[in-house]
Amino acid sequence: MEKKTFYITTPIYYPSDKLHIGHSYTTVAADAMARFKRLTGYEVRFLTGTDEHGQKIERRAQAAGKDPQVFVDEIVDWIKKLWQIMDISYDDFIRTTEERHKRTVQKIFQRFYDQGDIYKAKYEGLYCTPCEAFWTERQVVDGNCPDCGRPVELVSEESYFFRMSKYVDRLLAHIEANPDFIQPASRKHEMINNFLKPGLADLCVSRTTFKWGIPVPFDSDHVIYVWLDALSNYITALGYLSEDDSLLQTFWPADVHLIGKEIVRFHTIYWPIFLMALGLELPKKVFGHGWLLLDDGKMSKSKGNVVDPTVLVERYGSDAIRYFLLREIPFGADGHFSEEALVQRINYDLANDLGNLLHRTLAMLKKYFAGRVPAPAEKDSADEELRRLAEALPGTLESLMDELQFSSALAEIWKFIARANKYIDEMSPWALAKAGRTERLQTVMYNLVESIRIVSVLLLPFMPKTPPRIWQQLGIADKVELQSWDSILSFGRLPAGVQTVPGEVLFPRLELTGEGGAPVRQATKKEKVQAQAEKPAAAEKKVKTEETGLLSIEEFARMDLRVAEILAAEPVAGADKLLKLQVDVGGERRQVVAGIAKYYSPEELPGKRVLLVANLKPAKLRGVLSEGMLLAATDDAGNVVLVTTEKPVNSGAKVK
Ligand code: MSP
Repeated sequence: MEKKTFYITTPIYYPSDKLHIGHSYTTVAADAMARFKRLTGYEVRFLTGTDEHGQKIERRAQAAGKDPQVFVDEIVDWIKKLWQIMDISYDDFIRTTEERHKRTVQKIFQRFYDQGDIYKAKYEGLYCTPCEAFWTERQVVDGNCPDCGRPVELVSEESYFFRMSKYVDRLLAHIEANPDFIQPASRKHEMINNFLKPGLADLCVSRTTFKWGIPVPFDSDHVIYVWLDALSNYITALGYLSEDDSLLQTFWPADVHLIGKEIVRFHTIYWPIFLMALGLELPKKVFGHGWLLLDDGKMSKSKGNVVDPTVLVERYGSDAIRYFLLREIPFGADGHFSEEALVQRINYDLANDLGNLLHRTLAMLKKYFAGRVPAPAEKDSADEELRRLAEALPGTLESLMDELQFSSALAEIWKFIARANKYIDEMSPWALAKAGRTERLQTVMYNLVESIRIVSVLLLPFMPKTPPRIWQQLGIADKVELQSWDSILSFGRLPAGVQTVPGEVLFPRLELTGEGGAPVRQATKKEKVQAQAEKPAAAEKKVKTEETGLLSIEEFARMDLRVAEILAAEPVAGADKLLKLQVDVGGERRQVVAGIAKYYSPEELPGKRVLLVANLKPAKLRGVLSEGMLLAATDDAGNVVLVTTEKPVNSGAKVK
C-alpha cells in the first residue's frame, strides 16, 4: 500500500530578537500535528526555520554593532535550542542564508523575469520595516501600518515589480472552489473583500537601499524582496529546482501552512500567485491562528520573564506549557496567557484529573493485586460504556485534528479521563474488595489500567514527555507494541500480568507564592504550615455566648466554612480511627486529620467535595498536623457520614 504523506510548515522566524512564548504557539501546534500524523501512520515532513534577510534584521545588527550574519547566527542557535527544549520534532530547519535556499530563490526570480512576470519601474510609496510590507496611501491609518500600528516610511527607489494583477482572477476562482484553502473562514472573507476584490496592485519585489538580502541575479544593485525570499522556503527546503527534488515530488503540495493571523495575506495572496507563476500546485490549506495576548495587551519580549519561553519551560516543564497552549485557546481565536491560568490548568487538569487517575489506580492495584494487572473476569454492563468511549476516541481525534482543533481534541481526551475517574467512584473497588468480589474487582482494575494506557498513547502528540513516564509506572516502557496507535483501536490489548510500578507524582500541584510570584510546589508548603501551627495563636477572643446560650450572627460569621475537594487519603500509622487527608481549598492545599477511618476507606475519598472549617486553629493529632475540620453527621447508630454539597460546587466556595 502506498504510504500516506503529510507536509506541514511553520512560518520561518525572524531572528531579530529572542522569541517570546507567543512565538512558540505556531510551532507547538505544528509539532503536535506532525506527531499526530506520524503516530497515525503518515510519512511526515515538518519544516521550520528562520527568515534572516531584510532591512529590519540589517538595522538590528547595525544597532548591535555586529555583522548581520554573526548577529543572526547567535539568535538562530538560541532558537534551535528553544525548539529542542520544547520537544519540537522538525524534520528540517531551513535558514534563508543557506546556499541551498539562496540559489533557488535566484532561479525563481530569474524565471519570473524571463517569463515576463517581472518588470522594472520606479517605486514610490510607503513601507513598514517591522512587517517588511508595502502599503498604499489608502491602506495606512494616520501614517501608521494597518497591521502593527507603527509608522510607515516613504520609500522612493527603482524596483522590480511582479504582475500580481495577471493572476488575481485565477486566485479568486481557486479560493471559491476550495473552501478549505484559507482557514478559519473569517480570514478567507477578509482576504477576498479587503484585498482581492478591490484589485491587487503589482508588488514591488526588489529593493536597492540596503544590502542584506539575496541579490537579483541579473542586477546586483537590487536585493530580492524579503517576503518573496522567505515564502520560497517552503519549496527550496524540498529541493525545488535543484539536482535532487525527490522531496518535492513526495511532499508538495503542502498539506498545511500553519501561520499567525497577521501574515495570512502574504500566504494566501502573494504565495499562491508566485506558485501559479511557477506552475506548481497550491498548498491544500493555510490556517491563520489567533494571537496569544497578555492581560494588558500584546505580547512582547520586553514584558520580561512571564513571556520568556525558556524561563517558563524551566519552571513548569515543556509538557505543561504545550498542554496549556493547545488546550486553553480554541485554535483560530485569540487567547490570553497568564501564569495563574497556566498553574490552574496544571493543578486541575494535569495534577487532579490525569495525575489522580494514575495514582489512585496504581495504589489500589498495589493493595489488591500486589501491583500486577489482573485478567478481566466478571463483566458488567457498566464496563461497556467505558469501552465504547475508549474505542470511539481515536476516530474522534482524527477528525478533530484534521480540522486543527487541538483544544477540542484534548477536551475529548479529558472527558474520557473524567469518565474513568467516575468509573472508580461508581465501581468502588474498595467495596468490591471488602465484599470479597475478587472477579469483579479484577475486571474493574484491568479496565482502569487499560484506560490509562489508551490515554497515554493519545497524549503522545501533545505532551511527548508524559506518556513514557506513565509507561514506566504501568510497567510497559519496553513494550512498544502497547504504545502504538493500532494498539488503542480496540480496548483490551494490554496483557494481564503486567507488573506496575507506582512512581513519582506526574504533575505536582503548584501555587504562585514564591519570590516574585514564582510557582512553588504545594508539598513544600508543609513546612510553612507547620511553622504556622507552632506559632503562638494570635490573641484569641473568647467567643462570647449570650446568656441564652445561642450564637449571635456575628459569632457564627467568625467561622470560615469552605467547600474542599479531597485529593488523597491515607491511614495514620498507629491510629485506627484516623485518616490523613490532603484537600484542595480553592487552589490551596491543606492537610486534615479526620476520625472517619472506620466509615470510609482511603480509596473512596478522592474526588469528594466536603465542608471544611477552614479557620480552625491547626492542631496535631497523634503527631500529625491537621489544618481544619471536616463536617460530618453521626446517625443514630453512631455511623459517621461526611457532609457533601448537593450539587457540584467549586472548591474554596464559602459556605454560610
Ligand atoms: N518571518 C515571518 C514569517 C515568514 S514565513 C514565510 C514572521 N516571523 S515572526 O517571527 O514574526 O513570527 C513567527 C510566527 O510567530 C508567526 O506565525 C506569528 O504569527 C507567530 N507569533 C508571534 N507572536 C505571536 C503571539 N503573541 N501569539 C501567537 N502567535 C504569534 O512573521
